[in-house]
Amino acid sequence: MQNTAISLTNVNKWFDNFHVLKDINLTVNTGEKVVICGPSGSGKSTVVRCINKLEEHQSGLISLYGKELKNTQESINSIQGNVGMVFQQFNLFPHLNVLENLILGPMKTRGKTKDQAIKIAMHFLERVHIPDQAKKMPAQLSGGQQQRVAIARSLCMEPKVMLFDEPTSSLDPEMISEVLDVIIELANDGMTMIVVTHEMGFARKVADKILFMDQGKIVEQNTTEEFFKSPKTDRCKTFLNQILKH
Ligand SMILES: Nc1ncnc2c1ncn2[C@@H]1O[C@H](COP(=O)(O)OP(=O)(O)O)[C@@H](O)[C@H]1O
Ligand SMILES: [Mg+2]
Repeated sequence: MQNTAISLTNVNKWFDNFHVLKDINLTVNTGEKVVICGPSGSGKSTVVRCINKLEEHQSGLISLYGKELKNTQESINSIQGNVGMVFQQFNLFPHLNVLENLILGPMKTRGKTKDQAIKIAMHFLERVHIPDQAKKMPAQLSGGQQQRVAIARSLCMEPKVMLFDEPTSSLDPEMISEVLDVIIELANDGMTMIVVTHEMGFARKVADKILFMDQGKIVEQNTTEEFFKSPKTDRCKTFLNQILKH
Protein backbone atom coordinates (compact mmCIF):
# COMPACT_ATOMS: atom_id res chain seq x y z
CA MET A 1 0.00 0.00 0.00
CA GLN A 2 1.15 3.52 -0.77
CA ASN A 3 2.31 5.02 2.50
CA THR A 4 1.46 8.64 1.72
CA ALA A 5 -2.29 9.10 1.45
CA ILE A 6 -2.43 12.85 0.94
CA SER A 7 0.26 15.40 0.34
CA LEU A 8 0.12 19.13 -0.17
CA THR A 9 3.24 20.88 -1.39
CA ASN A 10 3.46 24.67 -1.41
CA VAL A 11 -0.26 25.02 -1.99
CA ASN A 12 -1.49 28.56 -2.52
CA LYS A 13 -4.99 29.76 -3.08
CA TRP A 14 -6.59 33.13 -3.65
CA PHE A 15 -10.21 34.22 -3.52
CA ASP A 16 -9.86 37.03 -6.07
CA ASN A 17 -6.99 39.02 -4.59
CA PHE A 18 -7.38 37.62 -1.05
CA HIS A 19 -4.51 35.22 -0.41
CA VAL A 20 -6.37 32.59 1.64
CA LEU A 21 -3.82 29.73 1.68
CA LYS A 22 -0.12 30.53 1.86
CA ASP A 23 2.41 27.82 1.07
CA ILE A 24 0.60 24.95 2.72
CA ASN A 25 2.74 21.84 3.21
CA LEU A 26 1.18 18.78 4.71
CA THR A 27 1.58 15.03 4.49
CA VAL A 28 -0.93 12.52 5.76
CA ASN A 29 0.30 8.95 5.80
CA THR A 30 -1.94 5.94 5.49
CA GLY A 31 -3.56 5.30 8.87
CA GLU A 32 -2.52 8.67 10.22
CA LYS A 33 -4.94 11.00 12.04
CA VAL A 34 -4.31 14.70 11.62
CA VAL A 35 -6.16 17.42 13.50
CA ILE A 36 -6.30 20.97 12.15
CA CYS A 37 -7.20 23.78 14.54
CA GLY A 38 -6.94 27.54 14.49
CA PRO A 39 -9.08 30.65 14.70
CA SER A 40 -12.16 31.19 12.58
CA GLY A 41 -11.25 32.42 9.11
CA SER A 42 -7.71 31.01 9.20
CA GLY A 43 -8.30 28.77 6.16
CA LYS A 44 -9.00 25.36 7.72
CA SER A 45 -12.11 24.63 5.67
CA THR A 46 -10.42 25.88 2.53
CA VAL A 47 -7.59 23.38 3.04
CA VAL A 48 -9.95 20.42 3.28
CA ARG A 49 -12.13 21.77 0.47
CA CYS A 50 -9.05 22.00 -1.77
CA ILE A 51 -8.14 18.40 -0.93
CA ASN A 52 -11.45 17.10 -2.16
CA LYS A 53 -11.64 19.59 -5.02
CA LEU A 54 -14.63 21.55 -3.79
CA GLU A 55 -12.21 24.44 -4.27
CA GLU A 56 -9.40 24.87 -6.77
CA HIS A 57 -5.94 25.87 -5.67
CA GLN A 58 -3.88 28.15 -7.91
CA SER A 59 -0.37 26.89 -7.29
CA GLY A 60 1.41 23.99 -5.66
CA LEU A 61 0.68 20.29 -5.70
CA ILE A 62 -1.99 18.19 -4.05
CA SER A 63 -1.57 14.43 -4.40
CA LEU A 64 -3.73 11.50 -3.42
CA TYR A 65 -1.90 8.18 -3.10
CA GLY A 66 0.99 9.57 -5.12
CA LYS A 67 -1.11 10.91 -7.99
CA GLU A 68 -1.44 14.63 -8.52
CA LEU A 69 -4.99 15.93 -8.33
CA LYS A 70 -5.80 18.09 -11.31
CA ASN A 71 -8.97 19.62 -12.61
CA THR A 72 -9.80 16.52 -14.61
CA GLN A 73 -12.60 14.03 -14.44
CA GLU A 74 -10.03 11.37 -13.58
CA SER A 75 -8.99 13.30 -10.47
CA ILE A 76 -12.58 13.93 -9.46
CA ASN A 77 -13.35 10.22 -9.83
CA SER A 78 -10.30 9.39 -7.74
CA ILE A 79 -11.48 11.72 -4.97
CA GLN A 80 -15.03 10.43 -5.06
CA GLY A 81 -13.70 6.89 -4.93
CA ASN A 82 -11.26 7.44 -2.09
CA VAL A 83 -12.19 10.43 0.03
CA GLY A 84 -15.25 10.89 2.23
CA MET A 85 -16.24 14.20 3.73
CA VAL A 86 -18.39 15.17 6.68
CA PHE A 87 -19.33 18.80 7.20
CA GLN A 88 -20.54 20.86 10.13
CA GLN A 89 -23.98 20.87 8.55
CA PHE A 90 -25.16 17.32 8.03
CA ASN A 91 -26.45 17.88 4.47
CA LEU A 92 -28.84 14.93 4.55
CA PHE A 93 -31.62 14.90 1.98
CA PRO A 94 -34.62 15.99 4.09
CA HIS A 95 -37.21 14.27 1.87
CA LEU A 96 -35.52 10.84 2.09
CA ASN A 97 -35.45 8.59 5.11
CA VAL A 98 -32.16 7.53 6.69
CA LEU A 99 -31.85 4.32 4.70
CA GLU A 100 -32.71 6.08 1.44
CA ASN A 101 -30.06 8.71 2.18
CA LEU A 102 -27.52 5.94 2.64
CA ILE A 103 -28.27 3.74 -0.36
CA LEU A 104 -28.33 6.55 -2.91
CA GLY A 105 -24.56 6.90 -3.42
CA PRO A 106 -23.68 3.20 -3.60
CA MET A 107 -26.52 2.60 -6.10
CA LYS A 108 -25.83 5.66 -8.27
CA THR A 109 -22.04 5.66 -8.37
CA ARG A 110 -20.96 2.21 -7.21
CA GLY A 111 -23.31 0.12 -9.31
CA LYS A 112 -24.73 -1.67 -6.28
CA THR A 113 -28.16 -3.28 -6.43
CA LYS A 114 -30.71 -2.03 -3.95
CA ASP A 115 -30.32 -5.17 -1.84
CA GLN A 116 -26.55 -4.80 -1.76
CA ALA A 117 -26.82 -1.10 -0.93
CA ILE A 118 -29.24 -1.81 1.93
CA LYS A 119 -26.86 -4.38 3.35
CA ILE A 120 -23.98 -1.91 3.25
CA ALA A 121 -26.15 0.84 4.73
CA MET A 122 -27.30 -1.33 7.64
CA HIS A 123 -23.72 -2.39 8.29
CA PHE A 124 -22.60 1.22 8.67
CA LEU A 125 -25.69 2.27 10.61
CA GLU A 126 -24.71 -0.41 13.09
CA ARG A 127 -21.20 1.00 13.21
CA VAL A 128 -22.57 4.40 14.18
CA HIS A 129 -24.93 2.70 16.63
CA ILE A 130 -28.29 3.70 15.16
CA PRO A 131 -29.57 0.77 13.05
CA ASP A 132 -32.95 1.28 14.71
CA GLN A 133 -33.31 4.73 13.07
CA ALA A 134 -33.15 3.44 9.48
CA LYS A 135 -36.73 4.25 8.59
CA LYS A 136 -36.90 7.69 10.20
CA MET A 137 -36.75 10.99 8.36
CA PRO A 138 -33.74 13.22 9.16
CA ALA A 139 -35.96 15.81 10.87
CA GLN A 140 -37.11 13.15 13.35
CA LEU A 141 -33.56 12.63 14.58
CA SER A 142 -31.46 14.62 17.02
CA GLY A 143 -28.49 16.57 15.69
CA GLY A 144 -26.08 13.96 17.01
CA GLN A 145 -28.00 11.19 15.30
CA GLN A 146 -28.16 13.15 12.04
CA GLN A 147 -24.42 13.67 12.09
CA ARG A 148 -23.89 9.96 12.70
CA VAL A 149 -26.11 9.25 9.69
CA ALA A 150 -23.97 11.66 7.67
CA ILE A 151 -20.85 9.75 8.78
CA ALA A 152 -22.48 6.43 7.90
CA ARG A 153 -23.48 7.82 4.50
CA SER A 154 -19.89 8.73 3.83
CA LEU A 155 -18.67 5.31 4.98
CA CYS A 156 -21.12 3.57 2.62
CA MET A 157 -18.91 4.81 -0.23
CA GLU A 158 -16.04 2.89 1.38
CA PRO A 159 -13.51 5.73 1.40
CA LYS A 160 -9.84 5.25 2.24
CA VAL A 161 -9.59 8.71 3.77
CA MET A 162 -12.13 10.72 5.74
CA LEU A 163 -12.18 14.50 6.03
CA PHE A 164 -14.18 16.00 8.88
CA ASP A 165 -14.78 19.75 8.93
CA GLU A 166 -15.88 20.78 12.43
CA PRO A 167 -18.22 17.78 12.68
CA THR A 168 -19.51 18.73 16.14
CA SER A 169 -19.63 22.51 15.89
CA SER A 170 -23.35 22.75 15.24
CA LEU A 171 -24.35 20.22 17.88
CA ASP A 172 -25.81 20.83 21.31
CA PRO A 173 -23.12 20.11 23.91
CA GLU A 174 -24.71 16.88 25.15
CA MET A 175 -24.49 15.38 21.65
CA ILE A 176 -20.88 16.14 20.92
CA SER A 177 -19.43 13.06 22.55
CA GLU A 178 -21.69 10.57 20.77
CA VAL A 179 -20.35 11.87 17.45
CA LEU A 180 -16.75 12.11 18.61
CA ASP A 181 -16.96 8.55 19.97
CA VAL A 182 -17.94 7.29 16.52
CA ILE A 183 -14.99 9.13 14.98
CA ILE A 184 -12.67 7.73 17.67
CA GLU A 185 -13.87 4.21 16.84
CA LEU A 186 -13.16 4.81 13.18
CA ALA A 187 -9.72 6.13 14.04
CA ASN A 188 -9.02 3.08 16.18
CA ASP A 189 -10.00 0.87 13.26
CA GLY A 190 -7.19 2.49 11.27
CA MET A 191 -9.02 5.01 9.10
CA THR A 192 -6.82 7.74 7.67
CA MET A 193 -8.35 11.07 8.59
CA ILE A 194 -8.08 14.81 8.75
CA VAL A 195 -10.30 16.39 11.37
CA VAL A 196 -10.83 20.13 11.66
CA THR A 197 -11.93 20.60 15.24
CA HIS A 198 -11.51 22.62 18.39
CA GLU A 199 -12.24 19.62 20.60
CA MET A 200 -8.82 19.39 22.16
CA GLY A 201 -9.67 16.42 24.38
CA PHE A 202 -10.55 14.51 21.24
CA ALA A 203 -7.39 15.74 19.51
CA ARG A 204 -5.27 14.54 22.40
CA LYS A 205 -6.85 11.10 22.25
CA VAL A 206 -6.85 10.56 18.51
CA ALA A 207 -4.39 12.76 16.66
CA ASP A 208 -0.95 11.63 15.58
CA LYS A 209 -0.16 15.22 14.74
CA ILE A 210 -1.81 18.57 15.12
CA LEU A 211 -1.62 21.60 12.86
CA PHE A 212 -2.37 25.11 13.99
CA MET A 213 -3.40 27.53 11.25
CA ASP A 214 -3.54 31.29 11.39
CA GLN A 215 -4.15 33.76 8.56
CA GLY A 216 -3.80 31.20 5.79
CA LYS A 217 -0.62 29.61 7.08
CA ILE A 218 0.26 26.49 8.99
CA VAL A 219 1.94 28.18 11.91
CA GLU A 220 2.67 25.00 13.88
CA GLN A 221 2.76 21.36 12.96
CA ASN A 222 3.80 18.89 15.62
CA THR A 223 3.18 15.53 17.22
CA THR A 224 0.22 15.69 19.58
CA GLU A 225 2.35 15.34 22.66
CA GLU A 226 4.74 18.13 21.64
CA PHE A 227 1.91 20.33 20.46
CA PHE A 228 0.32 20.47 23.90
CA LYS A 229 3.52 20.29 25.88
CA SER A 230 5.36 23.10 24.17
CA PRO A 231 3.43 25.22 21.69
CA LYS A 232 6.04 27.33 19.97
CA THR A 233 4.30 30.49 18.90
CA ASP A 234 2.46 33.04 21.01
CA ARG A 235 -0.51 32.84 18.66
CA CYS A 236 -0.87 29.14 19.30
CA LYS A 237 -0.42 29.54 23.05
CA THR A 238 -3.09 32.24 23.19
CA PHE A 239 -5.42 30.11 21.11
CA LEU A 240 -4.94 27.05 23.30
CA ASN A 241 -5.43 29.10 26.45
CA GLN A 242 -8.70 30.48 25.13
CA ILE A 243 -9.96 27.07 24.08
CA LEU A 244 -8.86 25.12 27.12
CA LYS A 245 -10.45 27.68 29.43
CA HIS A 246 -13.95 26.58 28.37
N1 LIG B 1 -15.89 31.32 -1.43
C1 LIG B 1 -15.21 32.29 -0.81
N2 LIG B 1 -15.00 33.49 -1.38
C2 LIG B 1 -14.29 34.45 -0.77
N3 LIG B 1 -13.72 34.32 0.44
C3 LIG B 1 -13.89 33.15 1.07
C4 LIG B 1 -14.63 32.07 0.48
N4 LIG B 1 -14.63 31.02 1.35
C5 LIG B 1 -13.90 31.43 2.41
N5 LIG B 1 -13.46 32.70 2.25
C6 LIG B 1 -12.63 33.45 3.19
O1 LIG B 1 -11.41 32.75 3.35
C7 LIG B 1 -10.98 32.79 4.70
C8 LIG B 1 -10.78 31.38 5.21
O2 LIG B 1 -12.05 30.74 5.28
P1 LIG B 1 -12.22 29.29 5.85
O3 LIG B 1 -11.32 28.37 5.12
O4 LIG B 1 -13.67 28.99 5.80
O5 LIG B 1 -11.71 29.48 7.34
P2 LIG B 1 -11.95 28.56 8.62
O6 LIG B 1 -12.53 27.26 8.15
O7 LIG B 1 -10.60 28.43 9.24
O8 LIG B 1 -12.88 29.33 9.50
C9 LIG B 1 -12.02 33.61 5.45
O9 LIG B 1 -11.54 34.94 5.54
C10 LIG B 1 -13.23 33.53 4.57
O10 LIG B 1 -14.02 34.66 4.73
MG1 LIG C 1 -14.32 26.32 8.63
